[in-house]
Amino acid sequence: MTTTAIPAVFAPVRTFFSRLIASEGPTPAGVDWPDTARQTIRFRELCRLFPLGKEEFSVLDYGCGYGALLPYLQANGFSCNYFGFDICEDMILSARRLHPGSEKRFQAALDPTQQFDFVVLSGALSLKLAADPRAWEEEIWRIIDTMDRLSTKGFGFNLLSAWREPDRKKDFLYYGDPAEFLRKMWRYSPNVAVLHDYDLWDFTVLVRKEPLYIKTPEGHWLRK
Ligand SMILES: C[S@@+](CC[C@H](N)C(=O)[O-])C[C@H]1O[C@@H](n2cnc3c(N)ncnc32)[C@H](O)[C@@H]1O
Repeated sequence: MTTTAIPAVFAPVRTFFSRLIASEGPTPAGVDWPDTARQTIRFRELCRLFPLGKEEFSVLDYGCGYGALLPYLQANGFSCNYFGFDICEDMILSARRLHPGSEKRFQAALDPTQQFDFVVLSGALSLKLAADPRAWEEEIWRIIDTMDRLSTKGFGFNLLSAWREPDRKKDFLYYGDPAEFLRKMWRYSPNVAVLHDYDLWDFTVLVRKEPLYIKTPEGHWLRK
């Protein structure tokens, strides 16, 4: 696979993840999660964005790693058409090997003309390594703009929380201020949730472009 041109701040990140997946294989450790439980809790929080019923939808997993979200969605009964994107070609190769029959769903480049009902991102904005925090934050907002452009019904992502105790923070990680993110998400939609209640010093932002409740002809309000 050829290497795609990416913003300079992501080049060391791509090298880091390329080495990690080579040494740890398609496991939580291979995408720098401490364990399956903490990877899965983040998926569960992001999946609150999706319809609860049988409605089918398409989803792009931005920074998909080896595609761990795909079996999670299947195991939890979501009827969706899944696609994964990652800047790290070795992650994409690993995802394709792990999910035979779904190889074409995993890509190391984005098609700017393609749209999805939802776009979700777990963990791809936190490891900044030596990048300057301001330069990193600019790229985060570019990615959020991209998730907005690519999604028709909504998008969601997680970030490490700046509310973490100062002595537990690491220089090579980026921590976002949940209140600031909530305030700034207004530009995308007023239907926004910031979830900071799952004990991982992490928060999830969910942006809906469609109402969460629909009114039935009988006058009942149903959650989609
Ligand atoms: C912490 S891992 C999480 C992988 C997967 N989302 C999961 O939870 O299992 C972060 C992933 O994001 C990818 N990534 C980092 N920066 C990215 C960017 N700017 N665009 C796309 N993918 C990126 C990395 O290559 C890595 O596979």
